[in-house]
Amino acid sequence: MSKYIVRGGLPLAGKIKVHGAKNSILPVLAASLLNKTGEQIRLEKVPALYDVRAMISILSGLGAQVDRDGEDLLLRTANVDCYHVPDALMREMRSSIFLMGPLLGRLGRARLCYPGGCAIGIRPINLHIEGLRALGAVIEEKDGYIEARGQLRGGEVDLAYPSVGATENLILAAATAQGETIIRNAACEPEIVDLQKFLNILGANIKGAGSPVIKIKGVPGLHGGSFRVFPDRIVAGTYLLAAAITGGSVTVEEVIPEHLQALLRLLRQAGVSVMVAGSSVTVSGGRLKAISRVETKPYPGFPTDLQPPLVACLTLASGSSTMIEHVFKGRFHHVAELRKMGARISVHGHRAVISGVPLLKGAVVRATDLRAGAALVLAALAARGESQILGIKHIERGYDRLPEALRSLGARIFRVDGVEKEAIS
Ligand code: EPZ
Repeated sequence: MSKYIVRGGLPLAGKIKVHGAKNSILPVLAASLLNKTGEQIRLEKVPALYDVRAMISILSGLGAQVDRDGEDLLLRTANVDCYHVPDALMREMRSSIFLMGPLLGRLGRARLCYPGGCAIGIRPINLHIEGLRALGAVIEEKDGYIEARGQLRGGEVDLAYPSVGATENLILAAATAQGETIIRNAACEPEIVDLQKFLNILGANIKGAGSPVIKIKGVPGLHGGSFRVFPDRIVAGTYLLAAAITGGSVTVEEVIPEHLQALLRLLRQAGVSVMVAGSSVTVSGGRLKAISRVETKPYPGFPTDLQPPLVACLTLASGSSTMIEHVFKGRFHHVAELRKMGARISVHGHRAVISGVPLLKGAVVRATDLRAGAALVLAALAARGESQILGIKHIERGYDRLPEALRSLGARIFRVDGVEKEAIS
């Protein structure tokens, strides 16, 4: 079993760049299915993530040709003719549900197994289904499968919740549907803006991403083009929280500070020094002050993906903090593992109360999902002694070469390879 070995207690220091955003590249890869021409799509500096490999496997299985050119990906999607996403790959990555939109748009059909639950919640898809039906799709859910078919046409969709995936699915379904689509109460996450930019480069006609109302004028088809997703705001936030928890000083370079505003406000509230200069953000400082109440919210609120790493930081803060998780019910699986390191946290439904302790001690802990794993890495960096972190496949879904990145900032963290079967080559 592969694992990370961490010897904590050293403040991190230095400068680091951040790889492309996982939650931009995944919908952008799905969007490439809408290019029926023989023209190539070049995606620049694509991060080497498990989830990216999973999506590439899915696209290849549907008939796309995907080649690596250095750090870039070259996609040719003229021969996409399969509408059934293989079950094993669908189960590898539940967020592949946003393949329904482009498959319906391209082939008029889509067949996926139900995404099912995972460590951070049951992952319902009702908003995706209702929205696609409003665009003319006939969708049946039976025997664990979702069968969708139909000639999509423009329509109006009012999302009951600003779901990121549902917003992306509907944009992809509407991009080549006949007529205009309006999505209201759309997710405002920056990744939606990145997706709109990419689609418009390929010839789509989309406006309003980043706001709650998105307008899509359907076009007959898309063509090739080149694109680079923006830096991963959650990875950038994780590095800054690594500086905060170890009492060091880290500068993340070539990021978009606006994407990090909610986190930076909270770090200032916790008494940490935060400096923004152009596309760089520096966090430095000693022991955090407790933050009486933090609530996760859709963008531009504090992002749920940084909740576990911030909880890890608050375990060492002076005083008691309360974290309220509004986005995913039950996203506190990191708490049991942090307790093994000496953290004092009590969970009551979607609320966690963290009582700061003077120090954490190294332990053997297990990541249950991507961001819970990141929280454990941060706690291990600050803990006294050695920690072993198991279940690192979860972490490597969203962090490209995390040990190397943290070692460049002075951390003592090493990956020990075990023998494990990977579903994705
Ligand atoms: C995206 O997930 C991200 N994943 C998540 O990042 C992120 O945490 C989340 O958005 C929120 O920002 C990708 O982009 C690949 P949602 P998604 O639909 O689209 C409920 C990470 O660590 N809901 O906005 O699945 C849902 O249960 C991952 O990088 C419905 O009820 O998030 C949840 O409670 C984790 N019905 C809430 O909405 C639906 O049809 C937010 O989900 C869809 C969602």
